[in-house]
Amino acid sequence: MFTRNGALVIISKIKDTLLYFRSLKFYLFLLVVIVGIVPCLFLQFGILGNFEERSVSVLAMDVRTQTEIVANRISNSDYLDNPSSEVISAQLSQLSNIYGGRILVVNSRFEIVQDTYAMSIGKMMVSEEVIRGFHGEEDTHLDSKNGYLEITVPIRNEDASKVVGVMVISASTATISDSLDLLKQKTFVLQIVIVILIIVLALVLSIALVRPLEILTKKLRERFDGYGEEQIHVNTYRETREISEEINAMIDRMQVLDDSRQEFVSNVSHELKTPITSMKVLADSLLMMDNVPIEMYQEFMEDITEEIDRESKIIDDLLSMVKLDKTGAVLNIAQININELLELLMKRLGPIAQKRGIELVLVCERQVIADADEVKLTLALSNFIENAIKYNRDNGWVHVKLDADHKQFTVIVEDCGIGIPREDQAYIFERFYRVDKSHSREIGGTGLGLSIARSTVLLHKGAVEVESEPDVGTKFTIRIPLTYIPN
Ligand SMILES: Nc1ncnc2c1ncn2[C@@H]1O[C@H](COP(=O)(O)OP(=O)(O)OP(=O)(O)O)[C@@H](O)[C@H]1O
Ligand SMILES: [Mg+2]
Repeated sequence: MFTRNGALVIISKIKDTLLYFRSLKFYLFLLVVIVGIVPCLFLQFGILGNFEERSVSVLAMDVRTQTEIVANRISNSDYLDNPSSEVISAQLSQLSNIYGGRILVVNSRFEIVQDTYAMSIGKMMVSEEVIRGFHGEEDTHLDSKNGYLEITVPIRNEDASKVVGVMVISASTATISDSLDLLKQKTFVLQIVIVILIIVLALVLSIALVRPLEILTKKLRERFDGYGEEQIHVNTYRETREISEEINAMIDRMQVLDDSRQEFVSNVSHELKTPITSMKVLADSLLMMDNVPIEMYQEFMEDITEEIDRESKIIDDLLSMVKLDKTGAVLNIAQININELLELLMKRLGPIAQKRGIELVLVCERQVIADADEVKLTLALSNFIENAIKYNRDNGWVHVKLDADHKQFTVIVEDCGIGIPREDQAYIFERFYRVDKSHSREIGGTGLGLSIARSTVLLHKGAVEVESEPDVGTKFTIRIPLTYIPN
């Protein structure tokens, strides 16, 4: 029984087969076959057809020349009225023998005065060709079905002023057909040989040309399946070499990404674990002691609370970083008054600076209104200023300067703090990177601040620059376009 499922299976099989044929190999094969076979067809129809045409026209010309000679003879005699001339009759039958056909001689009364087949002598012949012959027209007609060439030649009187009779010759084209058949047989054999050669050539070529691509696919599969660490090199064609290079570059990029992801995960775990370890140590030591005085409890609990704050800051930073990565392209752009934003920040950070006697100064060269995401930009700028306070010396200063030209605004955050060694400057924007681990730990922080800040500035299509000298100070220059043009 032919079930619906059976039909579906067959259809999917056909689809698979069709899909198999939609391959470069198959198309190449087809192309070579077509390109090879077209000349064969040309040989068949073009050359053979031409040969037949030419042979017929040569025969027609030959017959006509010979006939015209006899026609001259006839016009010089009274053969049309009295067809008794043995010489002319003999010539006519000779011609008829040579061309394997029949010759009729018709006089001006449309009577057949001579027929080399001797069947129609004395009969009337009023055909279209004969009438045209009496009008002086020569006529050639090929009856390819019966294998005859019919030619009408007018017979003119001596001074060629009048048509006095018409000769109708039918010449056999059997010899032409015979040679054509022979030629056809030979070309057929030749064509078969050529077609076989073309198919073999097409197969070999299509396999050989596509082979490097197959090698490339195989190497890629091996690479991604986990065997083979080495780079992919298929240099057979320029194209495969370029593809290999691109793939290698892509794999390298993926590797770097994978490495940095792994490094990030291990950094995150480490950072998250540190406060927990401290809390555990603090709690354990409390538990192990007998008769712990209440003051000690309080002190340890304060330390534990600090660690909890630290942990929660790391988590907050991580969350805002992930958010930046995920919704990076979706900035909540609005026209922001940057002066007001900075003033607010200074007010907010003032108390922290005051604690260490650090002078916090904001200088605004002009009013700046710019397209920005207020929340993200506040977070970023606040980190630069907070860093300038955190990594400063007691009683130092932090100068924040806002300026703008017609295209972009610039915020410069400068401090007279501990500075950043030259070799560390390239890394400070990396996640979790902190210059002096032990010192930084005292100061507090996660090492994510600058990474988040720079991502934000880049999202605003801006740039960050750092200049710093240890024990002299640090200067961060942040440039952001006044108008935001989305991608
Ligand atoms: N103004 C500065 N002066 C000196 N060192 C700085 C300054 N700004 C940043 N750094 C160095 O760069 C490191 C990275 O700064 P980043 O803001 O990313 O992290 P953090 O301040 O340590 O922590 P948080 O995530 O809390 O901001 C800092 O740990 C510090 O070593
Ligand atoms: Mg910071």
